[in-house]
Amino acid sequence: MIVAIANQKGGVGKTTTAINLAAALALRGKPTLLIDLDPQANSTMSFLDMQQVSRSVYDAIAEAGVTLEEVIVPSPVDKLSIAPSRIALAKLEAKLVGEMDAHFRLKDKIEPIRTRYPHIVIDCPPTLGLLTVNALVAATHLLIPIQSSYFALEGTDDLLETIEKVKARPNPNLELLGVLVTLHDKRTTLAREVYEQIQRVFGPKLFQTVITKSVRLEESPAYKESIFSFAPQSSGAIEYAKLCEEVLSRV
Ligand SMILES: Nc1ncnc2c1ncn2[C@@H]1O[C@H](COP(=O)(O)OP(=O)(O)O)[C@@H](O)[C@H]1O
Ligand SMILES: [Mg+2]
Repeated sequence: MIVAIANQKGGVGKTTTAINLAAALALRGKPTLLIDLDPQANSTMSFLDMQQVSRSVYDAIAEAGVTLEEVIVPSPVDKLSIAPSRIALAKLEAKLVGEMDAHFRLKDKIEPIRTRYPHIVIDCPPTLGLLTVNALVAATHLLIPIQSSYFALEGTDDLLETIEKVKARPNPNLELLGVLVTLHDKRTTLAREVYEQIQRVFGPKLFQTVITKSVRLEESPAYKESIFSFAPQSSGAIEYAKLCEEVLSRV
């Protein structure tokens, strides 16, 4: 399974989902790789100090001679490795302009290490540009986090259109694994209405697991920990563990 976590909106819980889903998968004992494709490097910083990061996914994608394996580093979570990001990733689009294989770079770099990591999670930037397309071309599955809010579904048309384009040619096997409601506030009627609205659009693709708002989920990256070691009894830990089960039951 190579699952891309994508939504071109920022602040919808992509990174929080990527780091905690990856940690949950690793805790189940299988080697897991978290690939950070966002130049802002939030996933990377959730587990590592940037001083520890000398090479990044940028080097592997931009340079033919650099393998992904060379940039991968271990994380504080057992069995979880990270292909870190750096701000340099923002230059990738300009670097690859006119290259015939621009959309396939990540896929090609993942291929030699696929068997080593049964689970790969890709955290995408908040755009539908070349980096996200590289993730969608490399992925077997896509998970879309949607923030529970009045404007929840705005912009999903563009995302679904991009997915259809990727499926039409470069990656016909890409499968929508599911849509995840995040930052949910159970107390408000609006949140309940938004959930029902998302359910009408996505039907069975909507995960039953909902990620509620939790301060613990916001805090854990500052301590370089996943939610499972930082606050194992918190709602966030319980919900992301449940999501992991649902994800595994769907692949
Ligand atoms: N369930 C949640 N409860 C509380 N805060 C959350 C939750 N999910 C994400 N956040 C916080 O919201 C902000 C945006 O989330 P993030 O995962 O970085 O989104 P994205 O990667 O889509 O931009 C971050 O500060 C994050 O800590
Ligand atoms: Mg992010």
